[in-house]
Amino acid sequence: MIDSFKITGGKKLYGSIDIESAKNAVLPLVAGALLTQETIVINNIPDISDVYKMFEIIRLMGGSVEICEGSAIISATLNKTEIPKGLASEIRSSIFMLGSLLATYKIAKVAYPGGCDIGSRPIDLHLMGLRCLGAKIIERHGYIYCNGENMKSGIVHLDFPSVGATENIMMASVMLEGDTFIYNPAKEPEIEDLQNFINAMGGIVSGAGTSVIKITGVKKLHGVSYTPIPDRIVAGTYLIAGAMAGGKIELKNVIPEHIYSLITKLTQSGCVISAKGGNIYLESNSRPISCPSIATQPYPGFPTDLQAQILALQSISNGISIVTENLFETRFKHVAELIKMGAKITVKDRSAIVHGVSVLYGAEVEGHDLRGTASLVLAGLCAEGVTTVHG
Ligand code: EPU
Repeated sequence: MIDSFKITGGKKLYGSIDIESAKNAVLPLVAGALLTQETIVINNIPDISDVYKMFEIIRLMGGSVEICEGSAIISATLNKTEIPKGLASEIRSSIFMLGSLLATYKIAKVAYPGGCDIGSRPIDLHLMGLRCLGAKIIERHGYIYCNGENMKSGIVHLDFPSVGATENIMMASVMLEGDTFIYNPAKEPEIEDLQNFINAMGGIVSGAGTSVIKITGVKKLHGVSYTPIPDRIVAGTYLIAGAMAGGKIELKNVIPEHIYSLITKLTQSGCVISAKGGNIYLESNSRPISCPSIATQPYPGFPTDLQAQILALQSISNGISIVTENLFETRFKHVAELIKMGAKITVKDRSAIVHGVSVLYGAEVEGHDLRGTASLVLAGLCAEGVTTVHG
């Protein structure tokens, strides 16, 4: 595993790159593989440690996962339904297995999930949703003990459109007799991808991407070979790289409508962007112009997972920008590091006020979470001198 990146800034970017499957689509699909004992093939898997840790959890529970030419071949005939503390506490997505374990095995013991340190990240909505469907849940000694023997289809209303809670409840309800409705679900493209995956396995789910998701219970799901959607956040990160470093780039295998909120901001910044089929082209020839206001919101609003990267762009843009983080309360750890590189940023509550500077300087900086670290690599690309990104 690479433990630091060394970046010599100042080169424009030219070239073309293929975008891999979305991490945040693949992770719930791996949990969804527990919904059948038949073989599930997930194609074009991204080379990301969270994904490998999910595979490791399946292996520890008695299932098998093989990787063959970029596809994961999963066979989830489990002899345990407990997710051990060590692995669970390293990744947030371990909690997605709660829903699929309850659906298939009616019982689960799951340690509290970990994940990037970007806020308190509670799971109350996940548990509330499962309780609405009749799951008996006890929280003791760092574990969540769930019994799904008496689960029944029903209505779940989410106070907030949580991505993970929506995914968990969808998976938990696919084999409950009758109709389950999730009101105020998350509308992220990854939710629609999970719907498509479940339907390809023989499930009946509709409404993903709207304000109500309907799940009609089926008796059994079957195996499938499935290619997840491309990663909108990776695509967005490369587009911002092009905007910051300048040059001309092509991204292949993108669904442009998944990143319209970003494309609008990059166009305001002065980049020339066009899309054709599944490709996006970006050209940037002059210093970007600041976007006065950027606020993260649930999809289709501006994604929190691109906040750190767009903030790095604002730090070198001409003008003043206010970037507001509405999803995760401590997702500004990259700001202190960007300041070490010469950025002029002040954080007040949930907003960062960014006075764009014309030059950043290479420095030793520390990444604290996935996207924040990406933002430091982006800053390094256009900084004067060498930047080393640790963490
Ligand atoms: N929330 C609650 N209670 C819950 C669940 C969530 O209060 O039970 C709150 C959270 O504290 C947060 C907000 O709801 O303030 C949004 O959380 P959500 O549940 O939607 O996020 P998540 O499922 O934990 C996924 C992605 C994140 C991404 C968010 C928002 C995965 C594995 N993770 O997390 O991705 O930021 O949705 O889009 O899908 C990343 O890729 O870097 C990343 C952090």
